[in-house]
Amino acid sequence: MTAATGHHRQIILTTPRLRLRPWRPEDLPQFAAMNADPRVMEYFPRVLTSEESERQAAAIAEHVEKHGFGFWAVEVIGVADFAGFVGISTPTFEAHFTPCVEIGWRLACEHWGHGYATEAARAALDCGFRRFGLEEIVAFTVPANTRSIRVMERLGMTRSPAEDFDHPRLPAGHPLRPHILYRLKPVQHSGHS
Ligand SMILES: CC(C)(COP(=O)(O)OP(=O)(O)OC[C@H]1O[C@@H](n2cnc3c(N)ncnc32)[C@H](O)[C@@H]1OP(=O)(O)O)[C@@H](O)C(=O)NCCC(=O)NCCS
Repeated sequence: MTAATGHHRQIILTTPRLRLRPWRPEDLPQFAAMNADPRVMEYFPRVLTSEESERQAAAIAEHVEKHGFGFWAVEVIGVADFAGFVGISTPTFEAHFTPCVEIGWRLACEHWGHGYATEAARAALDCGFRRFGLEEIVAFTVPANTRSIRVMERLGMTRSPAEDFDHPRLPAGHPLRPHILYRLKPVQHSGHS
């Protein structure tokens, strides 16, 4: 399922329908459009301006440069040059489960409902566990984000309600502050070889 090529800073993961690849400057307008879509950003504090998207893309690219892995740009082979991002990344905030590596995903609406997030996430998990030797990968979201939670559960991740946490970047009382945490260890993942 996974084909990683070249130096680790040039990782490309290939699945039957997708390519997870480094970012290109041409991705920016589509990334900004995705982040300006209220349906995509429903469970985030607000939609992003194009300047904010530009800064976020730069931070993502910098993470990949530094760690070898990150939120890769997702291409749907033969269908879309840029559908969003999926990958593994180190959160920059502190919480009871950090430091850690999280898995995350954000796709443009027109690419929901095809199984792309789950397919891409399996490749990213495989890369994290096998290539980078990670001992655990976590995921988190707000309890209302059922689409994202379904992806976590399809991946075999498990939640312990005792580990629910308040996102430190949001002020007390903010409706998106309470988060739930899912974890996955490589042994649980060994079925997908
Ligand atoms: C979260 C998000 C990535 C999920 O996308 P998604 O398309 O629902 O997830 P998947 O790729 O796993 O697709 C699964 C859906 O595709 C359907 N599907 C259709 N064809 C399929 C196929 N060939 N293979 C697998 N699933 C398929 C499944 O039935 C499933 O639908 P269901 O959940 O309604 O049963 C997407 O909603 C998103 O980008 N949201 C906005 C950003 C966000 O909130 N990110 C997470 C922050 S924590």
